[in-house]
Parts: sequence; structure tokens; C-alpha cells
Amino acid sequence: MGGMNTPHSSPTDLPAVEVLSLSKTFSTAFRKHRALHEVDLRIESGSMVGLIGASGSGKSTLLRHITGLVRSDSGGEIRVFGQTVQNNGRLDPHIRRLRREVGFIFQQFNLVDRLTLLTNVLVGRLAHMPFHRRMLGWFTGAEIQQAMAALDRVGIGIHAGQRAGTLSGGQQQRAAIARAMMQEAKLILADEPIASLDPESSRRVMEALSDVNRIDGTTVVVCLHQVEFAKRYCQRIVALKAGRIVFDGVPDALTHDLLTDLYGSEADDAGIAQQRPRPSHIPHTAPIPAMPRVG
Ligand SMILES: Nc1ncnc2c1ncn2[C@@H]1O[C@H](COP(=O)(O)OP(=O)(O)O)[C@@H](O)[C@H]1O
Ligand SMILES: [Mg+2]
Repeated sequence: MGGMNTPHSSPTDLPAVEVLSLSKTFSTAFRKHRALHEVDLRIESGSMVGLIGASGSGKSTLLRHITGLVRSDSGGEIRVFGQTVQNNGRLDPHIRRLRREVGFIFQQFNLVDRLTLLTNVLVGRLAHMPFHRRMLGWFTGAEIQQAMAALDRVGIGIHAGQRAGTLSGGQQQRAAIARAMMQEAKLILADEPIASLDPESSRRVMEALSDVNRIDGTTVVVCLHQVEFAKRYCQRIVALKAGRIVFDGVPDALTHDLLTDLYGSEADDAGIAQQRPRPSHIPHTAPIPAMPRVG
């Protein structure tokens, strides 16, 4: 099924995401705002990529284009696993089939509060079910077992029968990840999934994303405001500033200066300030010892 509308032959070497010359201008009654400027991005299948940048830099807009929720200005193209999502501002007619492969996780409101966690996770299966079963809302024993296993994997199996609305924010986010596992999503797009969580809950949510990436080979693209989390869990960081990619590389290559430039007045908020404390007792004229290079 893969590669129907592309020249690619083998599905294994298809990148998870290809963004080609993507620009987006939002027009309101008062102004035109260019949120993305000719963004080019290729994300390899099986990778975990952190998308960082100050608020308003275009992270959500980029993710929303990848899912086809927003149409680009003319000229851009987006493919997911080789299949066109949109081209030249037009959505591909087969986009629904493609969305089945993609799991979304937002900052909040991912679950239906009044349904149990188990049911919320089973909903991930709906895309794969024949129409009559979907209408009856009827799940097989195997599907229920699979949903339980997914909840266990993210560490909240004991809450399976509880209404989603009664769980903490972090538990709800982990359930959303379990739902994406149940969906057998090949790509997870997470937009600030830990923005409203405490550090310990954030860690657990990031561990769950990292787990589905490493163990299932699911490609993960996660927007994060907190740089430390992006550095700790992602092998590759892409940074946006005012709608342009200004950094693309391994976490270690992110310099303090670049981060300060990226976040400006939001630096504290993004957790950058603590990264390189400036000890006041060392005179700034002191020579900085060179690090010995190995190899
Ligand atoms: N639907 C919209 N209409 C008008 N402007 C928008 C819309 N969505 C986003 N924008 C603008 O595009 C820019 C990028 O926004 P966004 O992608 O949400 O940034 P981020 O997720 O990095 O905080 C912002 O200036 C924002 O105000
Ligand atoms: Mg956003």
C-alpha cells in the first residue's frame, strides 16, 4: 500500500515525514502573519525528534500541517511515509487513510473524561475496525487484552476501569500514549504533552514516548518548551525561530548562546538559565582551561 503516489519502491527506506518548502501565512482582518517560511525537514522513520522554540515560533503550525489540519500556502509539499498529505495547499484525497497511521497527543483534553481509561484506549482501535463493529462499539477479547497491555506498559493498568476525568494530567497523557499504541500508529505527533505537568509526571510521559519509540520503532515528533526534556529524550533537535529552522542537530550541539537567542525573555521559563550557572566568585578574566580532546 505504501508508495502508491510516489516513485519510492521499498517502504522501509521511506522517511516518516518530508516537509518541502513549507510556508504558511495566516490572514486576519487586521494583518497577514507569516508563521512558517520555506521550511524543509526530513524525519527518518524510527527516530525521536524534539521540536523546540519560543512560543509563537511555529511549532504547532508545523505539526498541524503534517497532519493535514492546516493547508499550506502554495508551493509546499508534505509527505508522511511517502504518501502525500498535502501539495500546493491542497489536501490529498486519501488523507483519512494516512491519519490512521498517525497518533496525536496534545497538551490536554486528549481523552473523553466520562469514559473509562480502558475505553479511551480501545478507541484507538476504531480506525482499524470494520464498519459494523465500529457502529456497535463492540471490541473483541483480544482487543481488550491489547488495550490492557498498553495501559500496563505506560504504568497505569490499575486505573483501567476509572473514568478518565478522575485521573491526573500525567496519567491522562500516558493513556493517550497507550491509545496511540493501540492504534498501532507508526508516527506520533505530540504537541507540548508535558506543558502543564510537574517534573516527575513530565518524566514519566517522556519515558512512555521514548519507550514506544525504542521498543515499537514508532517515529516520535514532540514539541517541547522545556529544553532539558528535549535534550534528554530526543536524539535530534530541530529549533524554530520566527517560522524558520535555525538549528537541526544532536542535543549536544545546542549551545547556550543559541538557546538564549531562541528563547530570549522566555529563557527562564524554558529552563535554560540553570543550564550554565555563572559562578560569581570566579573573575571573568580567569582563563578558561581547555578541555583535552580524546581521539
Ligand atoms: N489560526 C491562526 N490564525 C492566525 N494566526 C495564527 C493561527 N495559528 C497560529 N497563528 C500564529 O502563527 C504563529 C505561530 O504559532 P504557533 O505555531 O502556535 O507557535 P508555537 O506552537 O511555536 O507556540 C504565531 O504568531 C501565532 O499567533
Ligand atoms: Mg504550540
